[in-house]
Amino acid sequence: MPQLAILSAIALLSFLCTCKGQLSVGFYKKNCPGAEDIVKSAVAKAFQSDAAVPGQLLRLHFHDCIVDGCEGSILIKSSDGKQENKAFGHQGLGGFDVIDNAKAQLESKCPGVVSCADIVALAARDSVVLTKGPFYEVETGRRDGLSSSIDHASNLPDVEDPIDVLLKKFSAQGLSSADLVLLSAAHTIGTTACFFMPNRLFNFHGTGRPDPSIAPGYLAKLQAKCPKGGNVNARIAIDEGSENVFDNQYFINIRNGSAVLQSDGALLSSNTTKPVVELYASSPDNFRRDFGLTMVKMGRLGVLTGSKGKIRKVCSSFN
Ligand code: HEM
Repeated sequence: MPQLAILSAIALLSFLCTCKGQLSVGFYKKNCPGAEDIVKSAVAKAFQSDAAVPGQLLRLHFHDCIVDGCEGSILIKSSDGKQENKAFGHQGLGGFDVIDNAKAQLESKCPGVVSCADIVALAARDSVVLTKGPFYEVETGRRDGLSSSIDHASNLPDVEDPIDVLLKKFSAQGLSSADLVLLSAAHTIGTTACFFMPNRLFNFHGTGRPDPSIAPGYLAKLQAKCPKGGNVNARIAIDEGSENVFDNQYFINIRNGSAVLQSDGALLSSNTTKPVVELYASSPDNFRRDFGLTMVKMGRLGVLTGSKGKIRKVCSSFN
């Protein structure tokens, strides 16, 4: 029957299109062998001269994915200053030059093949590994987005959001309460500017008092590091004592009332997230395994694959 034949041809075609449009591990193996090694060595080289690089690159991947999906729009620079990375919630982002450098090397080896969004995802994984965190396979095959707008980045998870708001913002992206806890644990490396601290340390939710969840002994330490009226650009470790090592100390600090960021401390304030913090505080192996899984999940958010989007030549512009 011709009708049946047409229908099955359509079904087959749509199946093929779906396959073509999916992420997969080793996507560049044939078209650009060695692509992952190029990214890895660019990240390692940058790390040798700047210990801040892994934290920056890991954060960059999250900030790319959380606005319009993991499609490299965070990298765009535009002359009107209305691009996504100019949004308030993206303050302090770094690592752009590392991505640009990796991309330049990839373009000279295999022009027009490797997307900027994939470089960001790979660089995040390499940053985790460089700081002694778990290796996980990164799915690749993302393509780069065609827009980047500051207006799309107005509702990012905020450091002062209460836990129910954080949960809602993550859930809106298909991320669970366990994902919120696990992904926040990226704060096991890196630093924050004192800019994000004053309300937590001196005027929690407008009370004129500090966040009561901070352990008393730790509060004085934090206030000394980010004093009232002090330099908002001064940077302090987020996972104090272990800020250069990707480990589960982050959870132990939170459990002890020694979280630095308010959103991290808030993970103890809900019955859904508190047990997850406690689980990983006492189980480093489970944390290593589950962090990789949640990063793969985050890396799938809103991806463009197949014939959608494009492969940029330079990551900072829509060329
Ligand atoms: C729950 C929502 C989150 C909030 C409210 C939040 C907030 C922040 C803030 C305020 C900083 C300091 C930024 C600066 O001063 O430069 C920071 C740093 C950082 N964030 Fe998050 N974050 C969240 C989730 C995540 C996630 C999901 C990841 C990655 C998977 C991540 C990775 C990082 C890293 C690695 C740093 C250190 C950056 C550096 O050293 O330059 N964050 N975050």
